[in-house]
Amino acid sequence: MKFYVRTYGCQMNVADSNEMGRHLKAKGLVETEDPDEASIFLVNTCTVRQHAEDRAFSEIGRLKRWKQKAAGRKIVVTGCAAERTKDYLQDRFPFLDLVVGAKSIEDFAPMAERLLSRRETDEDLDYAVPAIGEKVAAFVTIMRGCNYSCTYCIVPYVRGREIYHSLDQILGEVRDRVAEGAREITLLGQTVNSYRHGQHRFAGLLEAVAGVDGVERIRFISPHPFYMTDRVIDTMAGLPQVCESLHLPVQSGSNAMLKAMKRNYTREEYITLAEKMRRAMPGMTLSTDIIVGFPGETEEDFEQTLSLIEELQFDWGFIFKYSTREGTPAANLESLAQELIEERHQRCLELMDRIAALKRSRLVGTTQTVLIEEGLFGRTRTNYKVHLQGNIEIPAAEPGDEVRVLITNASRTTLEGEIDHDNVAFENFRQEDCRACAPEQQRQ
Ligand code: 5AD
Ligand code: SF4
Repeated sequence: MKFYVRTYGCQMNVADSNEMGRHLKAKGLVETEDPDEASIFLVNTCTVRQHAEDRAFSEIGRLKRWKQKAAGRKIVVTGCAAERTKDYLQDRFPFLDLVVGAKSIEDFAPMAERLLSRRETDEDLDYAVPAIGEKVAAFVTIMRGCNYSCTYCIVPYVRGREIYHSLDQILGEVRDRVAEGAREITLLGQTVNSYRHGQHRFAGLLEAVAGVDGVERIRFISPHPFYMTDRVIDTMAGLPQVCESLHLPVQSGSNAMLKAMKRNYTREEYITLAEKMRRAMPGMTLSTDIIVGFPGETEEDFEQTLSLIEELQFDWGFIFKYSTREGTPAANLESLAQELIEERHQRCLELMDRIAALKRSRLVGTTQTVLIEEGLFGRTRTNYKVHLQGNIEIPAAEPGDEVRVLITNASRTTLEGEIDHDNVAFENFRQEDCRACAPEQQRQ
């Protein structure tokens, strides 16, 4: 029996989808990329902005026909929109078989078990082989929920308050992912650097993960500026595995807006922090999230955001149009006109894209260390995606290899490059890969 997963939203949702996928695989199901082959269709939804929720719901609507096409097909809807609108979903789409809200993801296994035991046919369960994930870049969830209450944000309502995984559980998952082929670990949490469990804090967790054999790269998303302490910065700078790239959501460049959003830092504090980070990790890329058109945002406030982008020269960023989320404090404020939000969105995008393109163009002609994730695709430590020119049939490098790549083109967001064969030797060499020099090891 096969299952298909469609994921909307953030990396946290991607990680949740992977986790649910692992439970299904443990039950003998096989993942497919073709919904026509699947008996289970899982839609993992997002509700952070209305647009994300609308897209998921229209897909769920279309699934009625998918379900009718073959006997025994089942539809599972999970995630943040499922948490927010559970009853509505079941009323509007009575053909759904299971709805699991974001707060209940950790109970997914028994729920799926019950769903599967309701099978009408036996199908081909006996032939299913549990697939082994071979993701080079893996996500590990270290905490769920959020204790902040940014006034625009629905996340604390749909994901609840912070719950932290124990250090042992996290390290166990990291080891599992490495055993499945991971070389890069991205630690996930809504305010990931607020991690605490017993004596352990985020910096200690970074050190512990770096201590796991086989972990070559570490990233984390999304940190909150408030918890970006000197101890965290020093630890990042001191650990060779921690990548020189930081996604640090700022949301606005105006102190009035930051206050209205309840972000708990000022523009000046954010700038000081960004500069400190760049000094501690030279060559680091800095990216961010920005919301334009928050209620009450004046032209002056908005220009403060533009000037912050200019001043800090972000390497890239995600610009979101403010979207009212029912039940959040900001939903009681008067919204700006939609055309104004659209116009500011365009202006902000143009500025961010111009800076990002300039930064990328400076990489042309440089040689970067790229970790190959799949086929001809990999990433630099600074988190640029790189597409290798060459033949997909005869790849010059395997997933998991680090190779030196000469960047030849940066006209799109994914850089293009070719393997620098003069420069490939030591990054590409791993003792365990060398059949000639370690025959004993090979036999074990
Ligand atoms: N409207 C627009 N953007 C939002 N975000 C969160 N809530 C909203 C909202 N109501 C953005 C923030 C956050 C990112 C994940 O989504 O920028 O960092
Ligand atoms: Fe939402 Fe703010 Fe929590 Fe991020 S820190 S999830 S923006 S409430």
